[in-house]
Amino acid sequence: MKSFFSGAIIAAILFFFAESAFAQLTVYSGRSKALVEPLIEKFEAETGIRVRVRYGGTTQLAVALMEEGRRTPADLFWAQDAGALGAVHQSRLLASLPDDIMDSLPEIFRNSDGTWVATSGRARVLAYNTKSEHLPTSLFDLAKPEFRGRTGWAPANASFQSFVTAMRTIEGEERTRQWLTDMRRNGAVAYNNNSSIIQALEAEEIEFGLTNHYYLERVRNIRPNTPVQQKFFESGNPGNLVNVAGLGVLNTSSNKSAALQFVKFMLTEDSQRYFLNQVFEYPVITGLGEQDEKLNEILEVSPDIDLDLLRDLEETLKLLRETGLL
Ligand SMILES: [Fe+2]
Repeated sequence: MKSFFSGAIIAAILFFFAESAFAQLTVYSGRSKALVEPLIEKFEAETGIRVRVRYGGTTQLAVALMEEGRRTPADLFWAQDAGALGAVHQSRLLASLPDDIMDSLPEIFRNSDGTWVATSGRARVLAYNTKSEHLPTSLFDLAKPEFRGRTGWAPANASFQSFVTAMRTIEGEERTRQWLTDMRRNGAVAYNNNSSIIQALEAEEIEFGLTNHYYLERVRNIRPNTPVQQKFFESGNPGNLVNVAGLGVLNTSSNKSAALQFVKFMLTEDSQRYFLNQVFEYPVITGLGEQDEKLNEILEVSPDIDLDLLRDLEETLKLLRETGLL
């Protein structure tokens, strides 16, 4: 009897260690390998949990998760856009996250049903050449005659499209359609991507550009004297949309506690500083000293929107085609 018990205890202990030693996670990551690999290696070293990553485009991975359904090998989905998280959430594939994780973040950085959290923030801004004097305070100003031919945008870019989806939910379909049409008639210049918009601003091809905040930060890092600045529109304007990169845990994960450890790891001060230093994104937690002010600023200017609604990309693409922008 005695030996049976000690045998059972030894077996239990061995099982426990085997479980933690071999704990393994599969992450579907829409964030690039170059960006997240160092952080994931650090997580593995600190926790002993092995992580396998499938890298891909955020939308492509969201589609894969929806196709795989309950058969997916993924424990976590790391998206570069709230719309993709919203789509996977709507398909009921994400597990509820515990309150201690949800409550550690401001409302705009988590979904209202508690199934995903942001790992960093990415804001839409108005970038402008410093020679420009009269700056618009609203997106709608840019469609007025005095701004004719002075604005650049990137209609094929994913973050532009998320912003248009946000605008549709905030301003309605008709007003958004009208704005897109007016902008086009007003000679808005289409660029392939956000970096080209910043370059065009530096070259004075255009005076204003609708872009994400971190592109100028990257350029400033290389050319501190670039003649480009950026600002937010008036508070609540859809042109100030704060989109996110974020994480959700799959319902079907058999490693939920390890998956939650992964989520918490990405919300630590060190990880948050990493995103800030590597790609100039916004932290999603307070307590990073000088960053708190910037975080408060975006909380203040960002439009009030349920980020899950950014999943409605299809209608946005349709609208962009109908208005001749794609
Ligand atoms: Fe980007």
